[in-house]
Amino acid sequence: MHPPFNPYGFVRREHESHHWHGGSAFRTQYFNALSMCFPELERRMIQSVRTAMGTLGDHPQARPLQGLAQEFIAQEAAHSQIHSRLNAHRVNPNWPVLVNLWPKEHIAQRHWLSNLARTCALEHLTTLLSVYVFRQPTLFKHVPPSIRDIWLWHAAEEIEHQCLALDLYRAAGGGYARRMAYFFLIVVTANAMVLAQTLTNLAHDSQLFKLRTWRDAFVLFWSRQGLAWFFVRHLPTYMRPDFNPKDHHRESRATALRWLRDYRGRTQGRGVDDQGTHDEAPAHSTDPGLV
Ligand SMILES: [Fe+2]
Ligand SMILES: [Fe+2]
Repeated sequence: MHPPFNPYGFVRREHESHHWHGGSAFRTQYFNALSMCFPELERRMIQSVRTAMGTLGDHPQARPLQGLAQEFIAQEAAHSQIHSRLNAHRVNPNWPVLVNLWPKEHIAQRHWLSNLARTCALEHLTTLLSVYVFRQPTLFKHVPPSIRDIWLWHAAEEIEHQCLALDLYRAAGGGYARRMAYFFLIVVTANAMVLAQTLTNLAHDSQLFKLRTWRDAFVLFWSRQGLAWFFVRHLPTYMRPDFNPKDHHRESRATALRWLRDYRGRTQGRGVDDQGTHDEAPAHSTDPGLV
């Protein structure tokens, strides 16, 4: 919460490469693709949690989760706002945002427990990505500080609220079969969406048919410590009937929460720009009604 970012810090400086991720076209367009998906996906996740809380009302099982649900909504709203601002400065506004083409009517027609199951699956994916970010401290080493801080802040908050959606789903009586059905659906569709957005970005960036692009892709995903291997190893834990995110990645969780505490302490009420200096941050509303 309290995103301590100055949006002007996202503006590209003259000396900076257009490929902000260490000069790599693939890494830049892959993380751009994720960032382009986040605002819409996070709006949908907020909606699913808000609807669940509204439906459960003052149910004794949901009461202990009310505060955490508000925090989840505020955090995802802040992520959505900051990634929208980042995209406005770092992504060509003429490039299509594929996630916005997903039909919205289906979501409104789907049962609220199904939307919540979808959120649980997305939270598992974002948690794994976040854990990976904290286990690979060199991943954002050559990224401008203002952008690196966004990714670390977002990853740390994902780890902080990783249990809420699943706790809420179980408190609402959500079953295993529905949770699994949406898990498989989300693993396929979310990865296909990010891949399609990455390829679209690379094509618009005229980098799709360059050898270096695909060499960087291989290193990011399939090298010994690659992201794909990490997902292959850890995705299936979600299939355990008694899966509890807190039982996994304890060390990375502790590292992330320590980083977050330290970062909030350093930047509370302030903005951070590309130079690492601090400015008064504009008022960032975490009012979910604004997203
Ligand atoms: Fe988020
Ligand atoms: Fe989240």
